[in-house]
Amino acid sequence: MSALLDVRVAAIRELTPVIREYRFEPLTGMLPGFSAGSHVQLHLPNGRRNAYSLLGDPADTRQYRIAVRHQDGSRGGSRYLHQSLEVGDRLRLSPPANLFPLHGEAREHILVAAGIGITPFLAYSRELLRRGADFELHYAYRTGTSDAYADELRQLLGPRLHEYQGGVRRLDLAALLQERALGAHVYACGPQSLLLDLQEQAATQGWSPRRVHWEAFAAPEPGQPFRVELARSGQQLEVGPDQSLLEALEAAGVDIPNLCRGGVCGQCQTPWLNGDVEHRDHFLSADERSSSLMPCVSRGCGSPILLDI
Ligand code: FES
Repeated sequence: MSALLDVRVAAIRELTPVIREYRFEPLTGMLPGFSAGSHVQLHLPNGRRNAYSLLGDPADTRQYRIAVRHQDGSRGGSRYLHQSLEVGDRLRLSPPANLFPLHGEAREHILVAAGIGITPFLAYSRELLRRGADFELHYAYRTGTSDAYADELRQLLGPRLHEYQGGVRRLDLAALLQERALGAHVYACGPQSLLLDLQEQAATQGWSPRRVHWEAFAAPEPGQPFRVELARSGQQLEVGPDQSLLEALEAAGVDIPNLCRGGVCGQCQTPWLNGDVEHRDHFLSADERSSSLMPCVSRGCGSPILLDI
């Protein structure tokens, strides 16, 4: 794994009652550069590791900015950030990685965000403006709750920004995708319902999957505790109700590659031999699930899982 970055919390802004923005500065020197769509993992003192999109200008390596929505039923990530993290605290971050990049061959970029899903598009917007690219941003939110960046984006984007306030104007993805040029690419970030709707509408209208991009960072859901055995070492682990299998493996000193920690990137794919697995990822095919699982999100749901590691 690449060396972690040591940073200090330079500022915290409350944007809405449920969304806060955090600005991090390096303890020394500059931070590594990043491309629009990148995320970092925060290594929290409570043992949680969560991934968040970098929303600042990719050209600015003096600081990183992220925004976090407080999740009801948080396992400790967003709750820690909202309730315990303070200006001046030190944190460790993984270096930026990008699972949601802009596509170089796109002639037109259609960005679609709902709620806290706006974060990668703040970095996209600055990058696309710098490139002089053809783009538009569609932003759905609830006023006073999830409209954290509406003012900033109005000033930055003017008529490129299209707003959809809950209960006032509906985001119609079918209409949005109609009669677009073949060089158009669409990118979406937001809740599962938005991403599924986008994929369905795009498929219905004959969009190539190569032109449809989405990002779904979901923190792993809690569940029932379960037991795991590692076939090669014989090690046995208990996974707690608020813990992911990946976190339990890490706590036991077992290093598993990972990037998104949300079941979408494929990095943590791990072979398993038997037991009862509840697959919760968005990466593996039905065939692959018979021999692999994604420990960042998937859990046991009956007899102990025997991992082939
Ligand atoms: S870390 Fe990305 S799928 Fe598990």
